[in-house]
Amino acid sequence: MNNILIVACGEFGATLKAGRKLGELVSGAVIEGKEKRDIKEYDIIVLGTNIRFNKFNKRFFKWLKAVKKADKPLYIYICGAEIEAQESHIQRMREEAPFANDIRYVWGELDASKAKRFKKYAIESFIEGRKKDGLSKPRILDKEIRELAASIKE
Ligand SMILES: Cc1cc2nc3c(=O)[nH]c(=O)nc-3n(C[C@H](O)[C@H](O)[C@H](O)COP(=O)(O)O)c2cc1C
Repeated sequence: MNNILIVACGEFGATLKAGRKLGELVSGAVIEGKEKRDIKEYDIIVLGTNIRFNKFNKRFFKWLKAVKKADKPLYIYICGAEIEAQESHIQRMREEAPFANDIRYVWGELDASKAKRFKKYAIESFIEGRKKDGLSKPRILDKEIRELAASIKE
């Protein structure tokens, strides 16, 4: 069986939650981006990132570099709040990681209660804006996670 490492590079827990769901499906070890692990000990690496002001997580890029250097099979999932923009994020990620076997947008979760000051304000106004536009509240897409799990197991 393959030894799988899932690295969740997020901040408020949604990226980690998605990583744990995936971890259960593929029997992988799940860690956060700030933790350390020797990727040489794993056969497959999955990197998850959140999106912040249209940017992927900084720690994600560090891990990406290490995975590239170690030449390990790579899978990526992206957590964001705007599902309407998923194609552009996937496209951008393809340019960052052309060697990735699969890239999924799993959507995410937004919870203003976990944030402080301007971040809290940013989240609140974002949630309010979506409501006004009649757009649904972000949630983690189990279907995308299941499909990613299937693609990893192939
Ligand atoms: C300050 C802030 C800025 C964000 N900017 C974006 C953004 O530009 N685009 C987007 O799709 N989601 C954005 N989000 C939403 C997060 O990417 C989304 O909620 C994700 O699930 C968060 O994952 P995490 O809980 O692991 O940090 C932002 C969230 C915060 C708190």
